[in-house]
Amino acid sequence: MNPELPETQRLFIALYPDDAVRARLHRLALDLVRNSGARVVPRANLHLTLRFLGSVDAATQACLQQKLEQIRGQGFKLQFDTIEYRKRQQMLWANVTSVPDALTELVAAVEQSAVDCGLGSSDHPFRPHLTLARKVRKARIPEQIEIPETRIEEFCLVHSVTLPEGSQYTRLEHWPLNTDNAK
Ligand code: 2AM
Repeated sequence: MNPELPETQRLFIALYPDDAVRARLHRLALDLVRNSGARVVPRANLHLTLRFLGSVDAATQACLQQKLEQIRGQGFKLQFDTIEYRKRQQMLWANVTSVPDALTELVAAVEQSAVDCGLGSSDHPFRPHLTLARKVRKARIPEQIEIPETRIEEFCLVHSVTLPEGSQYTRLEHWPLNTDNAK
């Protein structure tokens, strides 16, 4: 083993809204927490986690990659339609109220891959959300938001490194969803 390389990597599986929607969500976050000292998630990092995997060793990562690439999911559209302030966690979320069947099926397939690779079942039910800001002590919560739908055409395996200035995410792999007759 190369002693320079870490033995485990902190990984998660995620969806990335398209660039225009990420830009809109980022602008909205800046507006909602303005002058509050909150840490707004950089636009490029805005994602929706399907499954947090935690620290994963190389053999488990290889297993996961092999399982995940076999998933034949359907593409779908996502509508971020509400803002939720998670007071205890000091987080601001953009939520998806109407969960497409294809997303539910994708989450189940990803979960099965994680379990098949020995990671154990997820400890909490899937809540589709995108974290807009952290360390939020106060925020303006709009009743409605107007964010366009985003098409989801792939899912990604992401490596996370926690730095003093915030999380750094690197997309290690991405796998396509079937978009022939995406709803
Ligand atoms: P969050 O945005 O709600 O914090 C990388 O940390 C991604 O994995 C984030 O989207 C984070 O969700 C999600 N995640 C889920 N469970 C986690 C956990 N136990 N620890 C860290 N991140 C977690």
